[in-house]
Amino acid sequence: MKVQKISDNVHYVGVNDRTTDRFESLWPLPNGVSYNSYLVTGSDKSAIIDGVELSHALQQIDAVKSILGDRQPDYLVINHMEPDHSGAISLLRQAFPDLTIVGNAQALSMVEGFYGVTGNFLTVKEGDELSLGENVTLSFIMTPMVHWPETMVTYLRENKLAFSGDAFGCFGALNGAVVDTDMDTDRYFSEMIRYYSNIVGKYGVFVQKAIKKLDNIEIETICPTHGPVWHDRIEEVVGLYNRLSRYEPLTDGVTIVYGSMYGNTERMAEFVAEALADAGVRNISIRNAAKDDLSFIIADLFTNAGVVIASPTYSDTVFPPLAAVIDAMTLRGLVNRPTAVLGEYTWSPQAAKKITARLAECGITPVIEPISAKQSPTAEVLESCKTLAYALAGQLKKADTPS
Ligand SMILES: Cc1cc2nc3c(=O)[nH]c(=O)nc-3n(C[C@H](O)[C@H](O)[C@H](O)COP(=O)(O)O)c2cc1C
Ligand SMILES: [Fe+2]
Ligand SMILES: [Fe+2]
Repeated sequence: MKVQKISDNVHYVGVNDRTTDRFESLWPLPNGVSYNSYLVTGSDKSAIIDGVELSHALQQIDAVKSILGDRQPDYLVINHMEPDHSGAISLLRQAFPDLTIVGNAQALSMVEGFYGVTGNFLTVKEGDELSLGENVTLSFIMTPMVHWPETMVTYLRENKLAFSGDAFGCFGALNGAVVDTDMDTDRYFSEMIRYYSNIVGKYGVFVQKAIKKLDNIEIETICPTHGPVWHDRIEEVVGLYNRLSRYEPLTDGVTIVYGSMYGNTERMAEFVAEALADAGVRNISIRNAAKDDLSFIIADLFTNAGVVIASPTYSDTVFPPLAAVIDAMTLRGLVNRPTAVLGEYTWSPQAAKKITARLAECGITPVIEPISAKQSPTAEVLESCKTLAYALAGQLKKADTPS
């Protein structure tokens, strides 16, 4: 394995995971994921920044040894304690017994809580500095709740380099190169939207605080814990995280999420899509909630400006996969999307009613009266679907027009 250099005193010692099916047991990884770890070397000391997931520990240890030879790393800095970055701590301590573990008070209490590892801790606070020798100074910037309470950023001042933890990270393993300068990174952007919306999405307010804080320091390189190291495309990456964390849509399009057992609701969803297209909406994503993975649906909901939710009535309530979508949307505080609702039923029209009630709890009012269609949608129902589509398109245009 070749250990990649990010600068003279920073090496990549992270790993790729192309085996795990679902990140956090939830989110599919069609392109894998990387657990990034870095080694910073100074004239006096060296520090590993961020760890890797347990099953990849030996690979990380080998990478560190290949750079340091017989020298031991002095510090392990933990920006984030989620086990994808901390799982290997016990093994690192076994390999390097004198390793001082550096983190804020919350991170260090989690080290003990998760792994029973104690002693030789160095607790850091906002603004603290740790010198590794001449011109190699780490400082610590607290960025809580991106997306855990202990999250922080470690800044290597002389290199203008920020180790940002999960912030600015994305799904997608690294294919050879590590730094964006050395590869075509377009493919990582959709994986960044999915990573952000799935995992960090609820914590937009805290991501905004972190971005504002980081705005005060000069950053030329971002080393996140997942995905490429950003240098050339920093502005785009920070811009994307900035927009997503403000719940700003990336397109003026619509996500239509539907469920359908026998095709009636689906027919209405297709009809609404056609009417939206007629009304000039150019980005329409139709998702079958029973088949398409929730992960991609959440990414679309963050991406597009408008939402249509269409569900049959199922045992007196919403079709279960759609209930999961609505929960995912509201859990993440995604409540500023103009929304329209369609329901199907045969004997008691519950779906549209229950969806509307659930949305109301989160302050979402449909842009037009929801439609409840009985059995096969009639010509009249389809006409009302058209009216609904035009009302939604009109609302999106209004939102788009600067006042
Ligand atoms: C398992 C199951 C449960 C259902 N529960 C209800 C119900 O509680 N109330 C109702 O009016 N219709 C109920 N229906 C009927 C469907 O909502 C109705 O046929 C609808 O048109 C189905 O839409 P679809 O063709 O898009 O699947 C149920 C159907 C199935 C298969
Ligand atoms: Fe995390
Ligand atoms: Fe992570």
